[in-house]
Amino acid sequence: MTAPASAPAPTSPAPAPAAEPVAGLPADFRWGVATSSYQIEGAVAEDGRTPSIWDTFCRVPGAVAGGDNGDTACDHYHRMPQDVELIASLGVDTYRFSLAWPRIQPGGRGKPDPRGIAFYDRLTDELLERGITPWVTLYHWDLPQELEDAGGWPERDTAYRFADYAEIAHAALGDRVRHWTTLNEPWCSAMLGYEQGVHAPGRRDFGDAMRAVHHLLLGHGLAARRLRAAADAPRELGITLNLGTSTPATDSEADREAARRADGLGARIYLDPLVHGRYPQDVLDDLSARGVTLPVEDGDLETISTPLDVLGVNFYSGHVFSGVAEDGSTTGEDGLPVTRIIPQGRPRTAMDWEIVPERLTELLLRLEKDYGLPTVITENGAAFDDTVSADGAVHDADRTAYLAEHIRAVAAARAAGADVRGYFAWSLMDNFEWAYGYAKRFGLVHVDYATQRRTVKDSGLWYRDTIRLTRQATAG
Ligand code: FCB
Repeated sequence: MTAPASAPAPTSPAPAPAAEPVAGLPADFRWGVATSSYQIEGAVAEDGRTPSIWDTFCRVPGAVAGGDNGDTACDHYHRMPQDVELIASLGVDTYRFSLAWPRIQPGGRGKPDPRGIAFYDRLTDELLERGITPWVTLYHWDLPQELEDAGGWPERDTAYRFADYAEIAHAALGDRVRHWTTLNEPWCSAMLGYEQGVHAPGRRDFGDAMRAVHHLLLGHGLAARRLRAAADAPRELGITLNLGTSTPATDSEADREAARRADGLGARIYLDPLVHGRYPQDVLDDLSARGVTLPVEDGDLETISTPLDVLGVNFYSGHVFSGVAEDGSTTGEDGLPVTRIIPQGRPRTAMDWEIVPERLTELLLRLEKDYGLPTVITENGAAFDDTVSADGAVHDADRTAYLAEHIRAVAAARAAGADVRGYFAWSLMDNFEWAYGYAKRFGLVHVDYATQRRTVKDSGLWYRDTIRLTRQATAG
């Protein structure tokens, strides 16, 4: 996400709300917590795992805050059974985690490594023994380095490599894992990784980023087809997008155009081909004005629009856009039309993201109207500067308030007709927050990285109680 240039409004944490049943959610509403492989596993050189683009990127001086890396992270690879106990203690019914491609298929091509698969086999069984549904994401950004060396996502071949890997992973786990997400947030892979250079692999080329968009979507579609055709085809198959809202600051043409452009490259360039089988014409026109053509071949859009059961939505904030710079110009130094985020004057998280829960309701209703797919919130949560108190607890009232407001926003969207079926908190525990390293804590569980001690925060206890009370209220 791009942070606005102006000074943030002061954060004023609301007092922690007490846990109470959330009205308007059905008895079968899915409650979960989410993580991803590189952010928690560590053990990067064990059991045949080869480097991913994040292992490489973390070694680039200045790329990650504090020079941090995922070598150890939360040491989840070695502490998995205890971590599953922790998940169970929160009372959730679903755990969303991702598979490390370079663990399952080292180097990104050829034969799988049975040792990598064995880890996810055990994790799946541990979850099922405790009645927790495993919800697998195939790709949460840890591309095998060899595939980046061969060109990465801007290369068409990477899409085919992804489909092969998806088939391998599904063949290993599909008898027990029935919920599959192909990609997590292709916008971040393409734009942060290949345009802005702030995520792995750290490249900065708009054309490459756009080629990456198409090949990520193609990889998704190819993988979706293979999973659909397999024995034990998924019960729920989807993709997860990071979505917000794009509101024009005023009714002026410049501001409306800025919001249209932001929505085009942030949302519609993914949603339209996935659901409607075509790229939005206004976005194609904007791209061609920048000399970029998407590398679409015959049949690609049919593949990309393979029907989905569910759309995963990661929501953190929503934005207001202006097409006019502070100095009044409508063209930036790069010669492109200005697309500027305007602060909404709301409290912010430690990521400097504005807290605008009503935008989540707005987003879910818009998705219902324009795309009509069932949705699950596959990520929502907040980083705050937590501290462990003298009493040994983490009194994170601000996170509890954030979660409460956003869960209510989900219920409000349901009441207004959006088919939203679940909510997964990001994240189970504090972890490696990409370019921010370990400095940003999103967990319901605090991690002391020196000792790997886990402490359930007040927000985690609140989440547990909220789930229990809501289930009780809807039972029978
Ligand atoms: C999302 C990522 C997730 C985490 C949260 C804070 O963009 O999917 O891994 O970093 O943001």
